[in-house]
Amino acid sequence: MSAKFSIQPIGRFAGGSQPVRRPKEFACFSYDDNHEFHLDDSSLKYYYTPQLGADLSKGFDTFQKQDDSGDDHLDSLLKTIIAHEKETGKKIDANLVTWRGMMTKIMGAPFERFDGFEMNATLYQGCLFIEENNQYKMASKAKEGQGKPRRGPPLEVMQFWGYKFETLSTLPAPWSDTSREFIENRENEIVNNKAQYCSVVRTGVGKTILCLGGEVDAIWDSKPAEKGSPINWVELKTSVEIRNQGDMEAFHRKLMKYWIQSFLLGVPKIMVGFRTRDGILVDVKEIETQKIPETVGSQPNPKWNADMCVNFAAVFLEWLTKSVNDEGVWRITRQPQSSTIDVFKVEETGHGNILSDEFKNWRIKL
Ligand code: A3P
Ligand code: MG
Ligand code: MG
Repeated sequence: MSAKFSIQPIGRFAGGSQPVRRPKEFACFSYDDNHEFHLDDSSLKYYYTPQLGADLSKGFDTFQKQDDSGDDHLDSLLKTIIAHEKETGKKIDANLVTWRGMMTKIMGAPFERFDGFEMNATLYQGCLFIEENNQYKMASKAKEGQGKPRRGPPLEVMQFWGYKFETLSTLPAPWSDTSREFIENRENEIVNNKAQYCSVVRTGVGKTILCLGGEVDAIWDSKPAEKGSPINWVELKTSVEIRNQGDMEAFHRKLMKYWIQSFLLGVPKIMVGFRTRDGILVDVKEIETQKIPETVGSQPNPKWNADMCVNFAAVFLEWLTKSVNDEGVWRITRQPQSSTIDVFKVEETGHGNILSDEFKNWRIKL
């Protein structure tokens, strides 16, 4: 059993955007500094303006880096869904459950010619569950930085800059509960990317109702008392300072991922830390997520279009939920530079490791 979805010609996704739902958080979870799971918001961070002039490489030697070579499947997301279903006494109503990162890859596919992806999917109780294929992820990582020789700092250091910027721009508690000493000494904090706050939202693209889990970097103020109200999330990004037209075009291209990523979880604001080529923080700019499509669209030769991303995702997801119509484990792949997304069965029965026993046992009882 196999099927192909043609991404090209992308012209057919032009036109007004298909309906989208505003993402609403209905649950959350945290990983602590040891990457242990907690069903709460304990790792939520509060945005607080960083000091300019900081060296983003400082502290690389003491970086507490999460080993992401293991395969966690959808486990934490499913744990959080179980807890929510125990509370409400009923199943969530999504047609599709996955990590936000998977949806980002799908939505960007029409404009990302070079990026491939591989995911595993399984149908269970009428809902499609999609995980990243860990082997593919690890193989792509191993290829990173190979190929043509490059100038500048090592890739690991450049990757650290993003986490360092997060540490420089956030507080573990609201500003009013934080000492001045802590705020002024953030440059010396040990950078640890094992801790994460993850928001779990219900959202919709076209006819498909999605449950997505994804990390949010920080909050501007504090969570509203009422569940489902918009939350003033802040996404943090670093990018090289813009000095010429080429830099500007590259940045506008990057804005697609920023936009998709933030749009999917309902993150209204992105703080971009601009850095020099060697990692000195020189500027911080606030970008409103909802203004990105227009900003990019008003350029002379836009490289992507937000409505087309949404329309593509709407049509693709409808096709996908019809194609994966039977038991077993399915693979969803796009080879780099390929104009199709291929879907085929890799295991005839069962759900592979996509669904935890905990989740299946819970659902059998429910
Ligand atoms: P920047 O992208 O700001 O440089 P996120 O922005 O998604 O919150 O990720 C935080 C940081 O993790 C990134 O910072 C980058 O340093 C690192 N990172 C995220 N995705 C990555 C990937 N696919 N490969 C390498 N590093 C990544
Ligand atoms: Mg993040
Ligand atoms: Mg970020």
